[in-house]
Amino acid sequence: MTGELSAMPDIDPASLFVTRTAKPKVPPPAKALVFGHTFTDHMLAIPWSQSTGWQAPQIRPYGPLHLEPSSTVLHYAQTLFEGMKAYRDKTGKVTLFRPDMNMKRMNKSAARIALPTFDGDALLDCIKTLIRLDAHWIPQEVGHSLYIRPTLIGTQKAIGVNPPNEALLFVICSPVGPYYPTGFKPVSLMATTEYVRAAPGGTGGYKLGANYAPGVVPQKEAAKLGYSQNLWLQGPEHYLTEVGTMNLFVVLRKNDGGVELVTPPLDDVILPGVTRDSVLALARDHASGKQPIAGMTGKLEVSERPITMKEVKEKAEAGNLLEVFGTGTAAIICPVNRIGYMGKDINVPAGQSGIGDLAKAFLQEIQGRQMGTIPSEWSVIVSE
Ligand code: COI
Repeated sequence: MTGELSAMPDIDPASLFVTRTAKPKVPPPAKALVFGHTFTDHMLAIPWSQSTGWQAPQIRPYGPLHLEPSSTVLHYAQTLFEGMKAYRDKTGKVTLFRPDMNMKRMNKSAARIALPTFDGDALLDCIKTLIRLDAHWIPQEVGHSLYIRPTLIGTQKAIGVNPPNEALLFVICSPVGPYYPTGFKPVSLMATTEYVRAAPGGTGGYKLGANYAPGVVPQKEAAKLGYSQNLWLQGPEHYLTEVGTMNLFVVLRKNDGGVELVTPPLDDVILPGVTRDSVLALARDHASGKQPIAGMTGKLEVSERPITMKEVKEKAEAGNLLEVFGTGTAAIICPVNRIGYMGKDINVPAGQSGIGDLAKAFLQEIQGRQMGTIPSEWSVIVSE
């Protein structure tokens, strides 16, 4: 998918050249991994310039980038990224989970901040070559994977706010286990009323670096009060939007005894998460009877609708708040056990016991498709 720059050369996997490291490292054991702290031996880099289009992709030893101090990324946050994961099963087969969605989202982010777009299939081909080269770095334990971080930055050497005439797309890979240092445990949330993550007409629906740095201070403040993440609200009505770096789901008991799975609708304040989309697809297939999930309630209603803190509080008080969980590539599915809101805590019952029935069922279904124990068209083979 190349947009306005289609006359220029696109990413060409046939011209990929590989320089192997002369100093391969030994991957650490899975239990020693801290999320995002360890990187594999190689990286992919693809330079772009306005005059040449996309240049030959290179796989080279993982290492520092050479950037001029004037590079626009360093001044105006001309940067966007993706998070995707590769899995290795017991037979050694390596797969990616729904990588086409990451390629589409990355191009949407690029178009939003005037960075060059590209052929997503061609980039994916290059990423697969990188993963095959470093496949021995992929931990095989359940809940572990190779986190892949495609990143695109503006590298024009000039201090002026313009579409950059040079850019660099690079991809690094990190073997990972759980995202949170607490492991696969529930998190507590502080509903942030003082700051917003995103606003209508803004860039919250795109995966831009600029959306993340402003979340660090609110996150620190939540941590100081004993909460692990922020719950981001929107508007004077305090609509729930996202959780820390994840999408948000709320499970409510309905008056007729059924269960409603609610997530805020996609708009310009909600990031279109791949795991969010996967949960919704599984839930809808279950609710329609197309593909029932064992052990999950039959009376499930799936709603993409706005939900306010007032409604969550009222449902909790009436005993009808069943579960809250976050979804994201890094965290997969993360149960929530309490929400601090306006000085008081709302306890989430399922979170107290570790994980609720729905969150657990979705986690098992998604992990099964990721690890290859449940056959799925979402799983894309990298090597057999
Ligand atoms: C992901 O879930 O992949 C994310 O991008 C969150 C990230 C900030 C670790």
